[in-house]
Amino acid sequence: MNPTDTTPIYRPGLEGVIAAETALSHPEGAAGRLTIVGHAVEELAAQFTSEEVACLLWHGRLPTPVELATFKQQLSAHRSLPEATLDLLRAAASRAVPTMDALRMAIASLDLDLTPDQLEIGLVARTPTIIAAYGRLRQGQDPLPPHPDLDHAANYLYMLHGQLPSPAQVRGLETYLNTVSDHGLNASTFTARIIVSTDSDVVSAVTGAIGALKGPKHGGAPGPALDMVFEIGTAEQAEPYLRAKLDKGERLMGFGHRVYKVRDPRAVVLSQAAAEMYRAGGDMALYELAQQVEETAVRLLAEYKPGRNLQTNVEFYTALLLHGLGLPTDLFTPTFALGRMAGWIAHCREQQASNRLIRPLSRYVGP
Ligand code: COA
Repeated sequence: MNPTDTTPIYRPGLEGVIAAETALSHPEGAAGRLTIVGHAVEELAAQFTSEEVACLLWHGRLPTPVELATFKQQLSAHRSLPEATLDLLRAAASRAVPTMDALRMAIASLDLDLTPDQLEIGLVARTPTIIAAYGRLRQGQDPLPPHPDLDHAANYLYMLHGQLPSPAQVRGLETYLNTVSDHGLNASTFTARIIVSTDSDVVSAVTGAIGALKGPKHGGAPGPALDMVFEIGTAEQAEPYLRAKLDKGERLMGFGHRVYKVRDPRAVVLSQAAAEMYRAGGDMALYELAQQVEETAVRLLAEYKPGRNLQTNVEFYTALLLHGLGLPTDLFTPTFALGRMAGWIAHCREQQASNRLIRPLSRYVGP
């Protein structure tokens, strides 16, 4: 374009458009690299706890031991849900409301009993409580109160299953939550930033972000990705099954990405974490089947969509990892929201710190 030409360009899907500056995370599509506040995702995911990553996103550095202990205490103090939110979840369960919709409704109710300065901590602390309570209500069980001695990830597993998780399970979940903690200007994060750019509030921003995350082009893919592996059943069935889908023009869930044109670095981290967990006592045959499905899918996508570079994304091994932790498929996307919550809030803070109302143009094509 001529540098003096100021005619706005229309880019469908804002593809290739920079719409914010951030110090939080940097996905590099061609290199297949993801940096979160200066840390490679491989290092951050496997070594830190989810509380440390939340502090890193909110303050730009890792917490001191005292700061970390204070943060954990604050989370622990804000985990319980008000009776009104529990009533809402019970009503939603009795109507079989999908889990992401129940999470959206419950999150939107959190300013019932929290003061404005408690909202950010309350959102992070209560997201696991909401998801676990709803998961149990959907199965006809009573919600469990949070365990005061357990940290964020361990307490989520405890509230879901009613048993103390093993260290390997906690590590597996921490790795997952850290891996998805932030990812540039993805659709849900952009949604949150747009909402606070109007000087609206963080509960509204996160509620909108949950709505954006729900769709299968964003966070809604891991359940269908796992269903696909189960439907395939055996390695020999992978090719005919996947070909039939591609012949019908269907998309393979867990593959392709707007930014990454090589294997998503988060898929690398999660496939290793899942392998460790399955080796330590899971269904290794399922893990191996998933690997064969992945290999076949990538090969067929190259054949059906040459030049598109459709590779494995974060959702494929998310499905396997969360299944290995005993989560039902309808809790996969809510658990993604749990992992992304501190990141959404960090983006809201960043937007608020140097805000300019996000207000692009549209091109009129009407009569
Ligand atoms: N399976 C089959 N075909 C796929 C595909 C997939 N998973 N992902 C993309 N394609 C195809 C599209 O149909 C399109 O084909 P065409 O050129 O013949 O029309 C081409 O590849 C380019 O796709 P496009 O829609 O431009 O890519 P995008 O950048 O908009 O899409 C995703 C990115 C993630 C939305 C897309 O890859 C997808 O739908 N993946 C499956 C869902 C998923 O895993 N979501 C989780 C994302 S982390």
